[in-house]
Amino acid sequence: MTATVGTPLARLEGPAKVTGAARYAAEYPQDDVVHGWIVQSPVPRGRLNAVLADPTADAIAVLWHGNAPRLEPADDPELDVLQSDRISYRGQPVALVVAETLEAARRAAQVLQLDITAEEHDAVLRADHPGLYTPEQVNPAFPSETASGDVDAALAAAPVTVDVTYSTPALHNSPMEPHATIARWAGDDLTLYDSNQHPSGIAATVAGVFGLEPERVHVVTEHVGGGFGSKGSARPNAVLAAMAARVVGRPVKLVLPRQAMFSLVGYRTPTIQQIRLGADPDGTLTAIDHAAIGQSSRILEYAEQTAVVTRHMYAAPNRRTGHRLLRLDMPTPRWMRAPGEAPGMAAFECALDELAEKLGIDPIELRVRNEPAAEPEGGTPFTSRHYVECLRTGAERFGWAGRDPRPRQRREGDWWIGTGVAGAIYPTMAQPSTARVRAVGDDFEVAIGAADLGTGARTILTQIAADALGVPVDRVRVRIGDSTLPKASVAGGSSGSASWGWAVTGACRQLRETGGDEAVFDTTELIEKQETEGRHAFGAHFAEVRVDAVTGEVRVSRLFGMYAAGRILNPRTARSQFLGGMIMGMGMALHEEGVLDPAMGEWMNHDLAGYHIPAHADVESIDAAWLDERDDQLNPMGSKGIGEIGIVGSPAAIVNAVWHATGVRVRDLPVRLDKLL
Ligand code: MOS
Repeated sequence: MTATVGTPLARLEGPAKVTGAARYAAEYPQDDVVHGWIVQSPVPRGRLNAVLADPTADAIAVLWHGNAPRLEPADDPELDVLQSDRISYRGQPVALVVAETLEAARRAAQVLQLDITAEEHDAVLRADHPGLYTPEQVNPAFPSETASGDVDAALAAAPVTVDVTYSTPALHNSPMEPHATIARWAGDDLTLYDSNQHPSGIAATVAGVFGLEPERVHVVTEHVGGGFGSKGSARPNAVLAAMAARVVGRPVKLVLPRQAMFSLVGYRTPTIQQIRLGADPDGTLTAIDHAAIGQSSRILEYAEQTAVVTRHMYAAPNRRTGHRLLRLDMPTPRWMRAPGEAPGMAAFECALDELAEKLGIDPIELRVRNEPAAEPEGGTPFTSRHYVECLRTGAERFGWAGRDPRPRQRREGDWWIGTGVAGAIYPTMAQPSTARVRAVGDDFEVAIGAADLGTGARTILTQIAADALGVPVDRVRVRIGDSTLPKASVAGGSSGSASWGWAVTGACRQLRETGGDEAVFDTTELIEKQETEGRHAFGAHFAEVRVDAVTGEVRVSRLFGMYAAGRILNPRTARSQFLGGMIMGMGMALHEEGVLDPAMGEWMNHDLAGYHIPAHADVESIDAAWLDERDDQLNPMGSKGIGEIGIVGSPAAIVNAVWHATGVRVRDLPVRLDKLL
C-alpha cells in the first residue's frame, strides 16, 4: 500500500456539501423549534433601566437583565449575557426575543422599547491618547516588551534610517456561515448544534456558565463554514440560545444576522505601528524598533501580539519591540486569521521596503543579508528555516530578475505597473489532544473531537490514519465535530493538523503494535515538553499590480506565494489554504476596513455591501508553491501549520507593489484609490 499523505485526495465530505446533504448548525431539523433574535444596544455606553415589550407583538419571551436566569460568571465576561444593566459597547446584547418564527422575533425586537441612560463614550484609537498603557503580556502569553543592545544609539549612529508609522484598520471576520446555535434541553442535559472551531471547549464553557458537569453539554459541530478565529471560543449566541431554550422549554434557534457579526464575534484590532530601522550602507541592519498600539474593550483586556513577529524575522544587534493598549467603549477585538502576525508584518515588511529604497538595494537582497542564524532574540536554533530559499525560488518563479527598482517607470496605456515582495512567517504549534481508533470488521473508525472549518481537516486526518494503520483510505472512517468524542484542541493557531494528526498517529500506531480492537492516545505529555521558540513556517509573497493613472483603481494582476511549511499533507487542500490566506491578505491591502463613526461608536459599514471582501472579480492570477521541506523535530507527520501564513506577507507585497507602480507610499491601510490620487 502506498502512502496517501502527500497526495491530493479530494475532500471526503465534498459531495455531501455540494448536494446540500451536509448539515451546518442551523440546519438540523427540530420539532417545536422557536427562533431567537438578539436586541443590541443602540448606545456605546450607559445603563439599561427597563425593557418594555409591545403586547401586540407575538413574542413568546423577552429576556433582559431584569428577568433573565442568573448565570455563573464566565472566564470570558462577554458570555455574562443579560446579567447586568451596564452597557459597554454599541451592539452589546441587551435583550433576547423569542417567537414562533424568525420574522415574528425580529418584528417583536424592532418594537421593543428600551429605557436607557446613555453616558459619554470614547471610541477612537489614537497614538496620543492619555489612556494608553503597556499590558503585562500580549497574546497568548508573550512579554509585552523586549529589548537588547542600545536601539537609540544605534539609530543615531546609523548611516541610513527609516522612521515610519503605519496603521491598519479594524477588520471583520466574515465567514460564509454566520455564527449559529440550536439549543435543546432534556432535563439537565443540553444539546447545542453550534458553529465553532472547538466543540469540546464550547461544551466546557457553556457547562460552566449553567453550573453543569461538562458531560451534560453535548456540542455537535459536524460542518463549519469558516471561522478565522471568530469561532474559537463560545460566543454569546451559544449562551443566549441555551438560556432561552431553558426559559421557554422548547428548542431555540439563534443565527446571527451578518450585521450583528460586526460587533459580536470579535474583529481584528486596528493598529498604529511605529517602525524604526537603522542600517549600514551595505544593508546590514544595525537597529530594529517596532512599537505597536492596539485597542481593547471595557469588558476584557485583549492584547494582540502585533510586534512579536518582529522578534523572529531578521538579525540586528540592537532591537526593541513593545505594545501599548487602549481600552475603549467598543466591542472586544479577538482573533482573526494570523492575529498579530498579519498586521505586524504588513507594517514591518512595508517599512523594510522603504529601507531598501533608501539604500538602493534590491528588497530581496536586503532580506537575504539580514537572515539570522538562529532566533534573533534568545538564540534558539530554528528546527528548519528556508526563508531565503523561498525568496530566491519565489523570485525565479515570479520573474523578479531584471526588475527596475525605481518606482513609476512602467506604464501600459492608462495603467501604472509595479511589483513587490514581502516575507511571511507563522509559528508552528501543537496542542494536547486525544484520539481513539477502533477496529470494526475489516475497517477502522477514528474518533477525535476536532472541527473541520472547510479546510479539509477531516480528509487529512483520514490520510494520516490510513498511513499509520497501513491500510487504504477507504477502510478508514474519521468521526469529528462532536464534543462527546475524545477531547481535541481548538482549530486555531494553524495547529489543527499537527495537534490532531499527532494523536491520530499515536492511536493508530498503538493499535497496530498491540493488535487489539481499540487504542486511545493522548499527546498531553509529549506536547507539554515542546518548546515554542525556533518553530515557524516561512514564506515569500510576490505581487504585481496595475494602478489606473486616471482613477487610482488598483488591480492585483498577479499574486504568488512560495512557502517552506514542512511536509505538505495534502497538496489540494493545502493550496486552498494558502490561496485563501493570500486573498484575505488582498482584502487587507486594498478593500477591508471598518469605518468608525466616533459619535455613534460603531462601524458604519457593518454588512458585506459596505465592507468589501475580495470577490472572484478581484482575483486575477493567483498561485502558491512550496519547497519540499522535511522537519522531523515538530511532530510525527513533519508538518507545519499552513492556515494562516498566507495572510501574513501578502498585504505588504501588494502595498509595496503599489508604491513601485505609482511612487506613492500609502501607510494607512487599506490602499484606497483616493490615497493614490
Ligand atoms: Mo485562528 S485566528 O488561530 O483561528
